[in-house]
Amino acid sequence: MPKITIIGSGAVGATAAQRIAEMELGDIVMTDIVEGLPQGKALDLAEAGPLRGYDSKVTGTNDYKDIEGSDVVVVTAGIARKPGMTREDLLKINGKIIREVSHNIARYAPDSIVITVTNPLDLMTYVMMNATGFEPRRVFGMSGVLDSGRFATFIAMELGCSVRDISAMVLGGHGDTIVPLPRFTTVSCVPITELMSKDTIRRLVDRTVIGGAEIVNLLKTGSAYYAPSAAIANMVEAVLKDTKRVMPVCAYLEGEYGLRDIYLGVPVKLGRRGVEKVIELELAPEEKKSLDRSAEAVKSGIASIKALG
Ligand code: APR
Repeated sequence: MPKITIIGSGAVGATAAQRIAEMELGDIVMTDIVEGLPQGKALDLAEAGPLRGYDSKVTGTNDYKDIEGSDVVVVTAGIARKPGMTREDLLKINGKIIREVSHNIARYAPDSIVITVTNPLDLMTYVMMNATGFEPRRVFGMSGVLDSGRFATFIAMELGCSVRDISAMVLGGHGDTIVPLPRFTTVSCVPITELMSKDTIRRLVDRTVIGGAEIVNLLKTGSAYYAPSAAIANMVEAVLKDTKRVMPVCAYLEGEYGLRDIYLGVPVKLGRRGVEKVIELELAPEEKKSLDRSAEAVKSGIASIKALG
């Protein structure tokens, strides 16, 4: 049985554990810094097994030793930005958490594939890769699968069609600088540029860009976790079943799209070895410009992290 570790058993981590257990992708170890939290949620999920009919073992722990031999490690540990906190404050706090987590992953699960989820995503994935010392193909982040899911949802709402027929493509950094690509977004192979006006597409793109904030504003406390956990489960499945599915993932670029030493959302082939190939799309000049703008924002974040030490 493959072993999947979830570090951070909050809203996203615990819901991801539930989905992964229900999909029977392997045995799950949940961890957290809070004592009792992963144990309690894991026991609750284990007790749902006989009722939902899954055989995945789910256990909780505060001891990193228990993650030994993990095939995949999903990292959701961190804190959310609170009112009054600057971007630098968040970078500093979550950067420190990710460094501490990564040292334990390198020590106890040196052969694992690591999926980072903690925000700011592109920067935390960069820190994770550097601090574990793992090859870049084994460390990547969850962002584009979620953003493309949101884009697909809004397209289906607009057209009144099934979400199953939609294949949405989103590039770039996670957050304000994502780059949805209407030309590569289709409904049963028909590009949405053939199905909707420019203004409608613009409106759906704008809503996708602020997709996370829309949920935060509605919830008042906390942020999204159903769609983020669904995106995590799809990525874990692609790795463990070696499906080679093409998904937009926060991946390390070494010259692709003319960018280097940066983590950014791009389509990749995902399999048992992690990111097996970065797919380079032929971008139109204005699409490339948006991607470069997104890369600039991430680069300046990387510079801030380096300055913070
Ligand atoms: N080690 C392990 N777990 C930690 C640590 C640490 N050093 N620091 C914090 N945690 C745990 C918290 O105790 C908490 O249970 O991480 C968990 C985070 O859960 P939530 O606060 O519920 O946050 P969640 O909504 O799950 O989001 C987690 O994913 O999508 C991103 O922006 C989101 O960065 C955030 C992350």
